[in-house]
Amino acid sequence: MTRAREDRPVIVACTDGPLLVRGPVTLVSADGEEIEQSRRTVALCRCGVSTIKPFCDGTHKLIHFKTSPQLEE
Ligand code: FES
Repeated sequence: MTRAREDRPVIVACTDGPLLVRGPVTLVSADGEEIEQSRRTVALCRCGVSTIKPFCDGTHKLIHFKTSPQLEE
């Protein structure tokens, strides 16, 4: 598994789950506003049902979200 270095971000596409973003990144909304983040690793929703978008709230498990095609790990 690739690890984040201090100077570059790493994005991990979790099978049937969110995108884990590690390292130095700035999240910006569609209207250009910076989205505050309190952690160095954030989980971004890609199933579309999170109530706290753009972050994952774990709801993907309840809806049995599946990545398609399945990703190799
Ligand atoms: S990926 Fe977790 S709630 Fe969407």
